[in-house]
Amino acid sequence: MPEKGKAAGKSLLPGKIGGENIPFHIAIIMDGNGRWARKRGLPRIAGHKRGMDTLIKIVTCAHALGIGALSLYAFSTENWKRPALEVDFLMRLPEEYLRKELDRLMEKDIRILAAGELGQLPSRTQLAIEEALIKTGKNKGMILNFAVNYGGRSEIIRAIKDILLLVRKGQYREEDISEDLLAKHLYTANLPDPDLLIRPSGEVRVSNFMLWQLAYTELWFTDTLWPDFTEEHFLQAIRDYQARDRRFGNIQTKA
Ligand code: IPE
Ligand code: IPE
Ligand code: MG
Repeated sequence: MPEKGKAAGKSLLPGKIGGENIPFHIAIIMDGNGRWARKRGLPRIAGHKRGMDTLIKIVTCAHALGIGALSLYAFSTENWKRPALEVDFLMRLPEEYLRKELDRLMEKDIRILAAGELGQLPSRTQLAIEEALIKTGKNKGMILNFAVNYGGRSEIIRAIKDILLLVRKGQYREEDISEDLLAKHLYTANLPDPDLLIRPSGEVRVSNFMLWQLAYTELWFTDTLWPDFTEEHFLQAIRDYQARDRRFGNIQTKA
């Protein structure tokens, strides 16, 4: 995993952002694709296509800035409720994205991780993601964590069940159960909690994303829809983050 704080020493986009207090882990709820399409009289899937262009741009930008990890909410456990045609289209996107971008991700030393119940995805989607996990598995640069068929509540239940099983097997004692132990059984076991969560599209909610991990994450919202989201929005979110005072319950404030 890239070192925490490494970004601060890197040469960043000149003049765009200060080198101090760069968030290590940024999470994004990529929302607003459907409304973007509807506004133009297009089918919702046209919005998802455009959303993928934004994703490619923002990954490049995050990498250039020296961000340590980027987590992207791509499909929630609740998104199965959508019309089958839309779900089918969304299920093909990971494969399409990886076919297009995997070589570039390798060049940039980016490591892909996945969060979510991959076993319930169509086999082609699973295969494409698993191949990318293996292929990029030894990369040491930025972590690109895709939340696919992800739900924060089901993630916590899954962790509890894993822990219970290990208690029954005698691998853990009841006294071992702690916040750290639970966190180790989440999909994000090897990632620090997000420093910053960005949600475009005007919705001001977390929609079952990283419920455990967001406990002290700084939240940033914009009305801009994901297909219209640019590097400038991303930089603005980071600048605003840099001005925040993260107290974690303490009384210390910025000097
Ligand atoms: C986000 O855009 C993509 C997914 C949830 C998969 P939406 O499809 O939710 O777009 P809106 O919110 O309907 O505009
Ligand atoms: C959250 O967006 C899920 C993703 C972006 C993948 P939704 O569009 O599903 O969330 P709600 O329904 O507006 O809360
Ligand atoms: Mg939405």
